[in-house]
Amino acid sequence: VSALSTYTDELFQLDDPLLQQLPDEAAERGIPSIHIPDEVGRLLQTLIVAAHVERILEIGTLFGYSSIWMARALPSNGRIVSLEFEPKHAQTARENWERAGVATKVEVREGPALEILKTMADDRFDLIFIDADKTGYPAYLDWALRLVKPGGLILADNTWRHADPTRNMGDDNVKAMREFNERIAHSDRLVATMIATRDGEDAIMVAAVKP
Ligand SMILES: C[S@@+](CC[C@H](N)C(=O)[O-])C[C@H]1O[C@@H](n2cnc3c(N)ncnc32)[C@H](O)[C@@H]1O
Repeated sequence: VSALSTYTDELFQLDDPLLQQLPDEAAERGIPSIHIPDEVGRLLQTLIVAAHVERILEIGTLFGYSSIWMARALPSNGRIVSLEFEPKHAQTARENWERAGVATKVEVREGPALEILKTMADDRFDLIFIDADKTGYPAYLDWALRLVKPGGLILADNTWRHADPTRNMGDDNVKAMREFNERIAHSDRLVATMIATRDGEDAIMVAAVKP
């Protein structure tokens, strides 16, 4: 861990006992520790406040960790719809949202994300956070472009780790992630940047839809 990461994590110390304990609890239930790092939580919260975000779509719930970070930054009328196909993850997320006091703001829709998205064609969101299976990213981008409001945000995690061919993440992952990144970089509808995370081991794509 770099001196910069140590410094910023100390500077913005996570003063949230529940968020601190949830990853260990999930691991005890056999749920993988593939949740966002604190720096991504802080970025999501900053963008939610700056862009006056009220409606969020998350693809990839896990145990509800990133959605708790986001819910904490939403105004009282803010809502999150999160998609998840593992029943154990969805159930754990619901329990965690209750404990975090955000259960009225967040709902999980269970099933394969692409199937659920087909039922959501008329929904619109201010922010869409893509964080599920990496080979699905190009299809999730199609949906995100359809469901995001003008002026809204599309974020996607792990856009370097899975695009890096030296990491042995599998050819399908690398191909899908590169396609995803290239389409965003070249889109006339989007202004975007990729921000390094985990000391440059990974990155998050942040794209704004032109009004
Ligand atoms: C990286 S984790 C999400 C982490 C979460 N956003 C966080 O930071 O707290 C990815 C989640 O997506 C779910 N998932 C993977 N493929 C999916 C699919 N096709 N449809 C729905 N959920 C999927 C996995 O079960 C897992 O819980």
